[in-house]
Amino acid sequence: MTEMSTRRMQKEDLAEGLRLTQAQSWAYRLEDWLLHFHLGRGWVVCDPGGRVLGTAFWWPYGDQFATVGLVVVDPHQQGKGIGRRLMNAVMEDAGARSLQLVSTRAGRRLYEQCGFREQGAICQHLGAATTTTLPLKTGGASLSAVTSADLETIAQWDAMAFGTGRTSVLAAVLAGGEGVVATRHGRLAGYALARDAGRGTTIGPVVAEDETLAIEIVTRLIQRRSGIMRLDVPEDATVLRGWLESIGIACVDTAAVMIRGTSLPRRSAARVLGLVSQALT
Ligand SMILES: CC(C)(COP(=O)(O)OP(=O)(O)OC[C@H]1O[C@@H](n2cnc3c(N)ncnc32)[C@H](O)[C@@H]1OP(=O)(O)O)[C@@H](O)C(=O)NCCC(=O)NCCS
Repeated sequence: MTEMSTRRMQKEDLAEGLRLTQAQSWAYRLEDWLLHFHLGRGWVVCDPGGRVLGTAFWWPYGDQFATVGLVVVDPHQQGKGIGRRLMNAVMEDAGARSLQLVSTRAGRRLYEQCGFREQGAICQHLGAATTTTLPLKTGGASLSAVTSADLETIAQWDAMAFGTGRTSVLAAVLAGGEGVVATRHGRLAGYALARDAGRGTTIGPVVAEDETLAIEIVTRLIQRRSGIMRLDVPEDATVLRGWLESIGIACVDTAAVMIRGTSLPRRSAARVLGLVSQALT
């Protein structure tokens, strides 16, 4: 154990990181690793020969809050304390910030030992849409494509629902993707972004004043894309989730939201109904 080393992740380690997520059959591509790498701070544990045995990341949202993710250890090296080593590095590096993550079943015990407590659940919805027809009347929202000129306004509005600013995350997602924004009575009422990720498209974030509006926005994005869609949706967003199920984008897995410290305060009627990723939240 003493021969292992813990150090910051470098760009050169990304191929090894990809190997680790492929070993878990997680659908990350190198581009997905790159997005998460550029936005966050990664740690690796290596064997004496320098081979990467595990990774963990954290993403700062100001100096009070951060998310944690991409915690993954080589299947042949699990149960040897590497996950704990990585989490210790992340927790020390993140300082006094409250930390949030979305935990697989395998990770729960480790995170509990690190002081995380469960607070809700996220359903991973995945599938190709069987229809792109809007099922509902939605109350007069006006929808348009997001342009880079909209970003600052959307980011300010988003910060009230998310609980803190995340302009750099939204800019990075938009740069490699597209978005739809909804206004009602001339005011912003919701938006969603979509990008290539994993085996198809990931739609997230999805933020809206109500789930019916979220359905309208997501429908517009689905109409613009094809293939497998992924959305990570809070378990209690039952209207949105029920609609996703009805069009073939089924819940294939559920994961626990875990917090160490204080969760972000929500300061608007709008709600985050879809995650950028389980790592970035
Ligand atoms: C979850 C994971 C990162 C843990 O890493 P690890 O190196 O195996 O964990 P450690 O050896 O540091 O163990 C830390 C603690 O968790 C416990 N633990 C680890 N894996 C466990 C498992 N599958 N079941 C029960 N307990 C487990 C260990 O017993 C240890 O507790 P202890 O100190 O009381 O013995 C690793 O198993 C993994 O990569 N899993 C697949 C990917 C994944 O699901 N990652 C989490 C994403 S949120």
